[in-house]
Amino acid sequence: MAKTKYTPQYEYTPENNIFIQTHPLIQHKISLLRDINTGTNEFRKLVSEIGMLMGFEALSDLPLEDVQITTPIETCMTPMIAGRKLAVVPILRAGLGMVDGITALTPTAKIGHIGMYRDEVTHEPHEYFCKLPKPIEERTIVLVDPMCATGGSASDAITLIKNRGGRKIKFLCIIGVPEGIDRVHKDHPDVQIYVGHMDRELNENAYICPGLGDAGDRIFGTK
Ligand code: PRP
Ligand code: URA
Repeated sequence: MAKTKYTPQYEYTPENNIFIQTHPLIQHKISLLRDINTGTNEFRKLVSEIGMLMGFEALSDLPLEDVQITTPIETCMTPMIAGRKLAVVPILRAGLGMVDGITALTPTAKIGHIGMYRDEVTHEPHEYFCKLPKPIEERTIVLVDPMCATGGSASDAITLIKNRGGRKIKFLCIIGVPEGIDRVHKDHPDVQIYVGHMDRELNENAYICPGLGDAGDRIFGTK
């Protein structure tokens, strides 16, 4: 039975904490990802590159402070990232594919892990692992998962982080659908959501259309 098309409930604007990416490089690489002929090695590379590009956008509000640096010419005050308390948290498994790209930009970031799998029949998420770097309440947390379908995995992962004290959370997904993004936004309006591309809808198996198939299987070659 085909699903009824979902009607978005929010405007996707930075004011609503939802940032739909428009950069041509991100769009181009997402199109390559979708292609059924893109093999595991290339797929993994693209997920990492898109992670880096989206991380670049999402971290554009990191605070700066002036520090003293001596150049070969003179000493000057010049801006550097203040604080450096970042945590990148992938939702296992597929989120792992985005970690390298983001930590290439932020090498001092600590890495947490949240294990979630979706029940194949009910599509409900189930947690099987959670380990976050301390002090999580002081860190800017970049939660990553290539796919936001029903939004259940992301929403539950954010709840887990908040229950452990996490406060400043950004969620980055490469492909979302209105239904899933709206759910995450409704459950967690304080969280900034970055979406590489907003796709059309979910099918009867709660897969994203047109999507890219199963992100975890394509990253790890498990299909
Ligand atoms: C996929 C994906 C998300 C989740 C999205 O993971 O990586 O975590 O599904 O679906 P949702 O928005 O409906 O919750 P999956 O459960 O297939 O696990 P895997 O990464 O281990 O393959
Ligand atoms: N998880 C995926 O990997 N792909 C989808 O389309 C939906 C959930």
